Amino acid sequence: MGEGPDGSRAPRGGGRVSRETWPTTPREAPPAAAQDWQNDAVIDTPIGAEAERAVRLLHSATRGGLPRPERQRVFTIANQKGGVGKTTTAVNIAAALALQGLKVLVIDLDPQGNASTALGIEHRPGTASSYEVLIGDIPVQEALQRSPHSERLFCIPATIDLAGAEIELVSMVAREGRLRTALAELKHYDFDYVFIDCPPSLGLLTINALVAAPEVLIPIQCEYYALEGVGQLLRNIEMVKSHLNPELTVSTVILTMYDGRTRLADQVAQDVRAHFGDKVLRTVIPRSVKVSEAPGYGMTILDYDPGSRGAMSYLDASRELAERGAPQAGTR
Ligand SMILES: Nc1ncnc2c1ncn2[C@@H]1O[C@H](COP(=O)(O)OP(=O)(O)O)[C@@H](O)[C@H]1O
Ligand SMILES: [Mg+2]
Repeated sequence: MGEGPDGSRAPRGGGRVSRETWPTTPREAPPAAAQDWQNDAVIDTPIGAEAERAVRLLHSATRGGLPRPERQRVFTIANQKGGVGKTTTAVNIAAALALQGLKVLVIDLDPQGNASTALGIEHRPGTASSYEVLIGDIPVQEALQRSPHSERLFCIPATIDLAGAEIELVSMVAREGRLRTALAELKHYDFDYVFIDCPPSLGLLTINALVAAPEVLIPIQCEYYALEGVGQLLRNIEMVKSHLNPELTVSTVILTMYDGRTRLADQVAQDVRAHFGDKVLRTVIPRSVKVSEAPGYGMTILDYDPGSRGAMSYLDASRELAERGAPQAGTR
């Protein structure tokens, strides 16, 4: 793997100015790992710096590893806006945690199947998928597939069948709790982290995800109207919490597609931090062409280009997530 359909690899940016961007004025010191790789002025060429970072990344990721959480952590990745980085965050944080020794499952709950594609997972029509699991036709283990890039990373794919589920669910008994029921079996598996990637809507698929998971992770794009719609999302979360899933908490907010060249991105980041406080990860995901190229090769950024800033930032974000641990009941 790692090659395009014609056997060539996408250009790696050697010798040209990187199009990736990074916060120029971080308000807080980045985590230790980030400081480590940002200090690459000693390396002469961009390609040399990148190679050095890749080696350091793989070394530190595999050497130390991360502690397993006390209990399996299940996250719903939700934001009803499309294109804010839900899928990208789901697959890359999952891959980063797997790289550091943890066993991770991504459940693709978007009929578009983007998470399945990005993880290189089969999801043609007829493949056992989240649809059959949700409807109760098959147990989770029948839909589990292992990533071709990691023995610790698994996926329950989405096929186009899921597109009809939103309507089929309406007339079903206990329609909001079907995923929760289906996922109860997961406690027999030793997954450390489970991420449910939601479609860009607040319909029954997203509601099922919110009922099935104690933690919500909201990706917010550093763009105009970033917070538009977030109020509605939070109200829905409150509603699910009070009626269907008392455990539910927004534990994590992640800023995505940060473009350090714009003042707007900084302003958005400030607003989001003012609104969500310490739920916002200190690590910010930069806008990076490579991050957007990786799914085209059925890869996460950690496989596609482990030395890139996108890979580093998702690795840092995954560490922060793991080191913070699950919120204690009643503290949020
Ligand atoms: N950090 C990033 N830098 C550049 N492009 C990104 C980044 N994160 C996501 N993208 C791209 O933006 C688009 C939307 O991201 P995606 O994760 O699919 O959003 P969502 O799942 O919320 O709809 C995709 O084409 C993706 O490749
Ligand atoms: Mg998506």
